[in-house]
Amino acid sequence: QDDPRLKAISEAIRVVPHFPKPGIMFHDITTLLLDHVAFKDAVDIFVDRYRDMGISVVAGVEARGFMFGPSIALAIGAKFVPLRKPRKLPGEVISEAYVLEYGKDCLEMHVGAVHPGERVLVIDDLVATGGTLSAAIRLLERVGAQVVECACVVGLREYLYVLQGQHGLNEKPLYILVEPR
Ligand code: PRP
Repeated sequence: QDDPRLKAISEAIRVVPHFPKPGIMFHDITTLLLDHVAFKDAVDIFVDRYRDMGISVVAGVEARGFMFGPSIALAIGAKFVPLRKPRKLPGEVISEAYVLEYGKDCLEMHVGAVHPGERVLVIDDLVATGGTLSAAIRLLERVGAQVVECACVVGLREYLYVLQGQHGLNEKPLYILVEPR
C-alpha cells in the first residue's frame, strides 16, 4: 500500500453520499476513468500482479467490471468473459442468484466460454458484502474452472476483514487496490 500511484487512484474516485439510497456512500469509479493517468496506473498495477500467474480468463462482473477487465485481459494475454445480469446474454447460460446490500440479483455466464481447469481472475470495481463476487466464483467453479483471485478497485472497510480472512469469499484470495475515502 505504499505505491505512490494508489493515492492518486483513490483521490480520483468520487464519493457520492446517499446514492442510490440514504446511508449508502457510493464510490463512483467513472471519475477514475476520466483521469487517464490514474486509470492507466490502476490497470497497470493489476497487469503487473497477474501477468505471470498462468491466467487464461479474466471474468468481469457487470457493469463496472467491464470497464477494467478487458484492458487487463488484453495486457496479460487472456480472454475476457462477461458475467452479466439476467436475460442479457443470447446463448445458453448458467445462473447464480445472490443477495445485495440493496436488493437481490443474479449473474449469468455463457456455457462454453470457460473450460474446466482454466485459471481465472474475477474483476469488479467494488466489493461490499462479497455477495456478487461469491456468485461469480460459484458460476466459474460450476464449469470446473479455478478462480485464482478476485480483484477490485475499491473494498468497503467494514466487510474486508471477513472477506480477506481465512474463510471469506469461498476461500479465494481477494485483492483490492484502495480502501474507501
Ligand atoms: C455494485 C458493484 C459490485 C457490487 C458489490 O454493483 O459494482 O458489482 O455492487 O456489492 P457486494 O459486494 O455487496 O455484492 P451493483 O449491484 O450496484 O450493479 P451494477 O454494476 O449493475 O450497477
